[in-house]
Amino acid sequence: MFIIVKNLKKSYSAGENKSEILKEVSLELEKGQIGVILGPSGSGKSTLMNIIGGVDHADSGSIHVDGLEITALDDDKLTDYRRDSVGFIFQFYNLIPNLTVTENIEVVSNISKAPLNIDAVLKAVGLEVKRRSFPRELSGGEQQRVAIARAIVKNPKLLLCDEPTGALDYETSRDVLSLLQKVNREFGTSILMITHNTAIGDMANVVYKLRSGEIVEAIRHDETVASERIEW
Ligand SMILES: Nc1ncnc2c1ncn2[C@@H]1O[C@H](COP(=O)(O)OP(=O)(O)OP(=O)(O)O)[C@@H](O)[C@H]1O
Ligand SMILES: [Mg+2]
Repeated sequence: MFIIVKNLKKSYSAGENKSEILKEVSLELEKGQIGVILGPSGSGKSTLMNIIGGVDHADSGSIHVDGLEITALDDDKLTDYRRDSVGFIFQFYNLIPNLTVTENIEVVSNISKAPLNIDAVLKAVGLEVKRRSFPRELSGGEQQRVAIARAIVKNPKLLLCDEPTGALDYETSRDVLSLLQKVNREFGTSILMITHNTAIGDMANVVYKLRSGEIVEAIRHDETVASERIEW
């Protein structure tokens, strides 16, 4: 199993009040598969993903990614894990505004151990002609494709996507989803994706439904649907 999350707990305290954000969350994802986390706003999706990505800490429970127990790593080792193994994609792209498309991708490839070729990545996301453009000169979908290029250039084992289509229209969302599916197939990258959109679950091998910090349902698909055929 590629990802094993076991009995993960996380609380935040505000003054006297302590709220449990994750209550004994357990989930698994096989290598090379796509997992989707579905849940309403505030259910703890981003918190869970940030802990799996090594940018936040759990209170208790464990996470293994590709055999490495990331919940047992010290800060230096956790930084290595984030840099070497994880690509992040967010709802609002998070590109660096005063760098071109190519330069935004280079920021990551320059610090990667075994980066993919930038031209190949630009081609994969269909942005060769925009390589010298700045983010403000791009559409939302194009900016998200740059963000995907930036996340995959380090050839991460794991791609974490927090509502990657949340800011995009229908057609552009479909383009971005089919690009993620292509990355999964061509590079064998395991993908964990957060969404509000139940239809997107059809392209996943496994869907976990999160409600108020608890997994209430796990749905496995023997066959996944190509993103082009998903409608919502
Ligand atoms: N740093 C923090 N301090 C205190 N509370 C927090 C913190 N981060 C998140 N929370 C709380 O944890 C709960 C879950 O937040 P989280 O961001 O994980 O939700 P989400 O499922 O991603 O929601 P959305 O779909 O709106 O992005 C929320 O009630 C939020 O207010
Ligand atoms: Mg969130």
